[in-house]
Amino acid sequence: MKIRLSTGKLLPIEMYKIKIVQETSLPPVAQRQQTITDAGFNTFLLRTRDIFLDMLTDSGTNAMSDRQLSAMMVADDAYAGSESFYRLADAVRDVLGFQFVMPVHQGRAAEHLLAKTFVKPGDLVLMNYHFTTSKAHIDLAGGKVLELFGDGALQTQSDNPFKGNMDLARLAAAIEQNGRERIAYIRMEATTNLIGGQPFSMENLREVHALASNFNIPLVLDGSLISENAYFIQQREAEFAGHSVSEIILEMMSHVDIFYMSGRKSAAARGGLIATNRQELHNRILPWLPVYEGFATYGGMSTKEIEAMAVGLREMTAQSVASSSADFIAYFVNRLVEEGVPVVTPAGGLACHLDARRFIPQVPQQQYPAGALAAAIFLTSGVRGMERGTLSTDRDADGNDVMAEMELVRLAFPRRVYTMSHIEYTVDRLKWLFAHRDLIGGLRFVDEPPVLRFFFGRLEATSPWPQALAEAFRADFGEDC
Ligand code: F0G
Repeated sequence: MKIRLSTGKLLPIEMYKIKIVQETSLPPVAQRQQTITDAGFNTFLLRTRDIFLDMLTDSGTNAMSDRQLSAMMVADDAYAGSESFYRLADAVRDVLGFQFVMPVHQGRAAEHLLAKTFVKPGDLVLMNYHFTTSKAHIDLAGGKVLELFGDGALQTQSDNPFKGNMDLARLAAAIEQNGRERIAYIRMEATTNLIGGQPFSMENLREVHALASNFNIPLVLDGSLISENAYFIQQREAEFAGHSVSEIILEMMSHVDIFYMSGRKSAAARGGLIATNRQELHNRILPWLPVYEGFATYGGMSTKEIEAMAVGLREMTAQSVASSSADFIAYFVNRLVEEGVPVVTPAGGLACHLDARRFIPQVPQQQYPAGALAAAIFLTSGVRGMERGTLSTDRDADGNDVMAEMELVRLAFPRRVYTMSHIEYTVDRLKWLFAHRDLIGGLRFVDEPPVLRFFFGRLEATSPWPQALAEAFRADFGEDC
């Protein structure tokens, strides 16, 4: 939510009171250098106690509301027929307009079931952009992902409001060239995570749906960040200027055959779900639910989390909640633009994204510039971000590195967790780091897992640059900062 000040300036403002807090501390720079080295320069391998501001992800790290917490107290722990499930089903019907819902333990479990049910070896899944886990499950089922984003989607400096749109001409051509039979489904991702949290427009969704329906191809929507995408439609698409987030979400869902989400983001809980109005599609997925997740009324989730997700789904439609991170991220991004630090524009839905290629052009892609920048940010600020570039892309079948289309460091902004002074502190340290960017060098693997290597991979610096960076930092800020 933004509030107009007497100067006319719009200020993002917290529409909540902070009633429970978790203490955090800022370990000194020498300790940060040690911990990031011990963690193999992989921010996933850091411990919370060593981190000041955790901007790794907005997944499962959002602040719950008092209503969510209180709903958890009335959870009904039945293996089958839990009342908690029926409260979730009511919320899904009211908020998303779907009759059938299957809870799963988190978003990637939904992706697993969808790939298992619909993808055969040799099949294609057409999408606006992939997410790591969605691609992994399609690959494991023997399918292949085709990304059909539009011109300019990968440009990091842009004023295109809908970089998440699918290119309709490319979509039509892909269907024609490959034949309808080879296409398992079309997947649209709300605020495409890996290209900077960029939304698609309603107009684009309508057109993708019209084309998919012509060929009788199911349209699947990954709505892990559904309320943010709806908020951007309201803010950026003229037709929806006066519409509520609820109305926009319901219209979005009217164009979708299967909806799934990680409940850990927009819904501020820990779980996930698949929903549809098409009974035949539901009936194909359902038998696999108890095999991989749990019985149909809990799907691997704790009933407490089902209750929290039901409330979170309703709450995410409030203007103050749907905008809660988006407005702060826009402020964060604009402050960095003011300071000349290279970021992805326009601001997206889940994080502020730094463009490592423009930040440290001296580090070649073979030396994982986004990973190196994430490590350098931690070293100089205690802020933990996440690499989203070549490190997050697994090798091809011949063992060659696949160069990512973008080299980003994501500083996620969990909903209702961090404040304006946290942003100002981070902006200050990033400004300092950008001024000292020549000190940053590359990374190389010392231990590399075969799949989703960014999670557990360990790396080392290609030169003693972390030492030089820490020394420069100490010279300006002293030992204790
Ligand atoms: N789809 C999208 C768009 C996601 O961002 C995620 C997770 C998933 C699916 C998988 O959901 O984690 O509940 O299994 N994104 C997290 C992130 C991990 O940090 O961006 P999950």
